[in-house]
Amino acid sequence: MESQRPSRTAEGAAALRVWHTLLDDPPHVFDDSIVRSMLSGPTRLMLHAPPSMVRHAIRARETVQPELAALRGQVVLRSRFAEDALDAALAAGCHQVVILAAGLDTTAQRRPELARAGAILEVDHPATQAWKRERLPADLSAAVRYVAVDFERDVLDERLAEAGLRSDAPMFVNWLGCTYYLEPEAVTATFEALGRMAAPGSEIVLDHWLPEPGLNWRPRLLLAGVRFALALQQEPLRCLMTAGELAEHAAAGGWQVAEELDAKAQRERWLAGRNDSLALPDFAHLTRLVRA
Ligand SMILES: C[S@@+](CC[C@H](N)C(=O)[O-])C[C@H]1O[C@@H](n2cnc3c(N)ncnc32)[C@H](O)[C@@H]1O
Repeated sequence: MESQRPSRTAEGAAALRVWHTLLDDPPHVFDDSIVRSMLSGPTRLMLHAPPSMVRHAIRARETVQPELAALRGQVVLRSRFAEDALDAALAAGCHQVVILAAGLDTTAQRRPELARAGAILEVDHPATQAWKRERLPADLSAAVRYVAVDFERDVLDERLAEAGLRSDAPMFVNWLGCTYYLEPEAVTATFEALGRMAAPGSEIVLDHWLPEPGLNWRPRLLLAGVRFALALQQEPLRCLMTAGELAEHAAAGGWQVAEELDAKAQRERWLAGRNDSLALPDFAHLTRLVRA
């Protein structure tokens, strides 16, 4: 992200999470209706539960042309993956939660007791973070610890230490919707910085997108469209990685792959048996890393 304006993709991802609750059938893979209050006026205006005939028509269209449903799916499935891993980490006694590239992440709103205990640190590009903080209720905004960082320029671990993150206790890191916007060197540098702060038992959950070679024509076409749209929004795609390449970047910081879900595994876990049009592109990949 080179611009000094807030990330548009942060609002786009949040809108897709709301759209999932309006269009797709319950049970929802991830219910983030609460994020609606943080969306800008024009985006909020566009999000209304469609009447049943319109809903039917959209779904029929998405069944033959699943691109929007697939983009919606990759946003809600990655959030669900992170939420399940967070539940497990908290149950295991972890009490430091770092949300990297937070955008309009609502962990603090959905778990206010965690925020008020000072357990949540949100890290984001300065412009996006300032814009988000204006949208939060004042008491929560005061409780969350904010760290303004540009992953391409700043030394993340120094900033986390200044914000009070402890390196003698495990941390849970949520890093969603971001790796593909960074230069590969910044991805490695982020794993290294987190590695320098990580006590044994720490975890990172993240998503990454697979490069074009190896994908068939349909996800390639979608990726080409997404690449074009993101370039127009000045948030170009910079780093697509295979699972092996991601594991190499992570290993530079001492992180090991504990769980890896390709698109097929994600569909089996969260989309099997659904009767709506929610879908997932083949390039969407989820990983959980651990520090031994
Ligand atoms: C698509 S949003 C994802 C937001 C959120 N994690 C989610 O899943 O909805 C991308 C996020 O990456 C952040 N980002 C992109 N490039 C960055 C950089 N160089 N430094 C810090 N944050 C960056 C943006 O500010 C934005 O919050």
